[in-house]
Amino acid sequence: MLHLTGDIVVEVLNTCAMYRFDEPMIDDLVNAWERDSLYQKWHKASVENVKQFWSTQTDCIYWQSLPTDVYDNGYWLINGKSNLYYNCVARHAIQTPDKVAFINYYDDPSMRKTITYRELDILVKKVVYLLIQKGIQKGDVVAFFMPTRIISIASMLACAYIGALHMVVFSGFSADVLAQRIKDSNAKLLLTLPTIRRGGKEIDLVKTINEVSKKLADNMPEVLYMNDIPDVPNVSLNIEWLNNQDEAFILYTSGTSGKFKGVVHATLPYMLYVSSTFKNIFAPKPDDVYFCTSDIGWITGHSYLVYAPLFWGLTSVIFDGTPLYPTPERYWEIIEREKVNIFYTAPTAIRSLKTYGDEYVTKHNLSSLRVLGSVGEPINETAWNWYFHIVGQKRCPIIDTWWQTETGGFILAPLRNMSQQPCVAGRPFYGVNVSIIDNQLVINNAWPGKYKRILNQNGMYNSVYKSGDTAKLVNGEIKITGRIDDVINVSGHRLCTADFERVLSTMPEIIESATVAIPHEITGQTIVVFAVLASDTISTHEELNIKIQQQLRKSIGAIAKPHKIIYLDDLPKTTTGKIERHKLRELALNN
Ligand code: WT7
Repeated sequence: MLHLTGDIVVEVLNTCAMYRFDEPMIDDLVNAWERDSLYQKWHKASVENVKQFWSTQTDCIYWQSLPTDVYDNGYWLINGKSNLYYNCVARHAIQTPDKVAFINYYDDPSMRKTITYRELDILVKKVVYLLIQKGIQKGDVVAFFMPTRIISIASMLACAYIGALHMVVFSGFSADVLAQRIKDSNAKLLLTLPTIRRGGKEIDLVKTINEVSKKLADNMPEVLYMNDIPDVPNVSLNIEWLNNQDEAFILYTSGTSGKFKGVVHATLPYMLYVSSTFKNIFAPKPDDVYFCTSDIGWITGHSYLVYAPLFWGLTSVIFDGTPLYPTPERYWEIIEREKVNIFYTAPTAIRSLKTYGDEYVTKHNLSSLRVLGSVGEPINETAWNWYFHIVGQKRCPIIDTWWQTETGGFILAPLRNMSQQPCVAGRPFYGVNVSIIDNQLVINNAWPGKYKRILNQNGMYNSVYKSGDTAKLVNGEIKITGRIDDVINVSGHRLCTADFERVLSTMPEIIESATVAIPHEITGQTIVVFAVLASDTISTHEELNIKIQQQLRKSIGAIAKPHKIIYLDDLPKTTTGKIERHKLRELALNN
């Protein structure tokens, strides 16, 4: 392993590539076959000797103390000390200070803002100073209710600087959700903005924060509005050098049991995993412009919008609006203007944009694009074809990346320049031993991106990680087919049917309810609610529909909008009293 303090980062990007692939030649079948067998060989070797593989991937990390061992008995990067802020900002601020780190596009199409690595470093330090003034220390949790903007990212990095954990809540979620998560994570501080905009509409966050404050009463943390940050006086701000068990962040997601769960990632192994997967799978070049459309409220926004691109010192486009406002050509305009090379988005966005026709895309010059990524749900054939033919003009491989909040980074992806089968998530990353057992995708060995723990849960140590997703093999590659549990996926967002049922059970008019997911052309899946009403209900179905929608919006958020609400006298049940969801699903499909 090397100590890389003095090296130029641009060179690092080139020299660190142990497993580097050639340019894409996806029509060249002979080469594709050769690359496939090369992959098989490398993957086999990497899984047989996991430690050896990962030790080839640690060189690009700046180590304050070098690890004495890369893996030992469940622990990664033994005795190593490092810091995410240092690797993602400080070293680039020294080596490529004038390089643009982020180009921020906003919901307001007239706005565009850029920040260089040097400026980002200064901004991060301002927030660090603020956090220290508020008494935030290593290990404390800082809640975020902020959109995808430079200031939000600088604040996440400020947490990394001092070893505090950020806990980002998507700014479209309700006060209920935000309050639950602040309480569960025991956050000491809440960072937010007074207003944000989405789809041309101004959203008053102060109102939401006041509601949260009422709900949490004495447990309400101090709120900082991040629209106006004072300068830092000339003081020294010490970087916390973290060890392999020190935690980086908490991110909530829907669990199988229907209860939200706080997934905690440890800094060092997470940094190793996201930096390595990003480099090997998207294979960025030093001067690339990268555009990930995710919000910072999801794991994609953490791993592949904030940390991995900054780790490699790239220039990234970030966007806090929606793809449809003010017109459905927002993404394509941005790609053309910024000459984006790597574009990473979700199938739901692709399907939705496709409905507006090809012209919005084809009138823009998108020849800068080289790699097209997809994430969040299986990409179906129509979306794949449109993405490949219309957006990528058949030049760009579609990199469908399968992973989860819990996995930290990509697990499956078509490794670059291999043969491509449409709609197939591809192959396991190096060092990851994946198999399909009883139709379920499982991971058999340890990988550095695996979450460290679930907040407030005593985890049992399982050597096999069960993903909850069903999968099958298609010509040697893995295709994700669905879920084994009641987790549903609406527009790439993980929700759980039990969440809906819990919310509905609080309504006096509803005796019992059940929620099922059915396929939907744009959002992937959509929700159909079945409700059994109390006999003394006087409201009409129309009135109740509105009430149910309001209740779900308030308790979960706008993404929880049911597609249909069907009233039944009874729910179909087995003799042992279990709701027969397959019957409801049939009913929903035929209704
Ligand atoms: C669940 C994880 C990973 C970042 C975004 C979601 C589904 C995700 C794919 C894909 C098929 C996918 C799975 C998974 N999923 N990516 N490329 N193909 N399904 O993170 O909220 O933790 O959700 O999203 O069902 O289990 P998440």
